[in-house]
Amino acid sequence: MRLFQILIYMLALTIGGCLAFQHNIQFPHRSPKQLKYIEKVPETSIGTDVVGKAAASSNPALNNQGKALFKINCASCHNRNMKDDLTGPALAGVEGRWSDYPKEDLYEWIRNSQRLVQEGHPKAVKLYNEWNKTIMSPFSKLTDEDIEAILFYIEETSS
Ligand code: HEC
Repeated sequence: MRLFQILIYMLALTIGGCLAFQHNIQFPHRSPKQLKYIEKVPETSIGTDVVGKAAASSNPALNNQGKALFKINCASCHNRNMKDDLTGPALAGVEGRWSDYPKEDLYEWIRNSQRLVQEGHPKAVKLYNEWNKTIMSPFSKLTDEDIEAILFYIEETSS
C-alpha cells in the first residue's frame, strides 16, 4: 500500500513538472516585441482594435513616439507619406528590404549609415551608390527602442 502511495506522489510530481516545463518553453517563441505588445495592450481593447482603422491604434503610445522621432530626425529627408522619394528614399516596406540581413544591420544603418558603407556592407554600399552618394546624417543617440518606435510608425503609416 505504501508503495502505491509513493507511486501516486511520483506521478503527480512528473505531471506537475511537465506542465511547468511546457509553460516555460512557450514564451521563447514570442519575440520581445510581441511580448511588449501583449503587455501594453489592455485586454478590453483587443476586440475593437482588430476592426477597421485599427492599424494606427494597435499601439498608440509606440506609434506616437515613433511619429515624434520621425518628425524631428527624419522628415527633412524622408517623405512623411512614406510613399514618395524626397532627398532620401520612401521608407514604406523598408524592413522587408533589409530582411536578408540581421535587424541589427538596419539599426546600425540608421545610427551611422556611413560606417556600414565604409565596412563594405553590400546593402549599404548599393543604396549609397543608387542615391548618388548622398550622405544620410548619423543618429548615434537613437536607442534600439527609439528605432523600433520609428520603424513601427513607418509601418503603420505605410499600410
Ligand atoms: C540628410 C538627409 C537624411 C536624413 C535626415 C535621414 N535620412 Fe535616411 N536616407 C537618406 C538618404 C540620402 C538615403 C539613401 C542612401 C544614402 O544615400 O545613403 C537614406 C536611406 C535610408 C534608409 C534605407 C532605405 C532603404 O530603402 O533601404 C533608411 C532605413 C533610412 N534612411 C532611415 C532614416 C531614418 C529612420 C531617419 C531618421 C532617424 C533618416 N533616415 C534620416 C537621407 C536622410
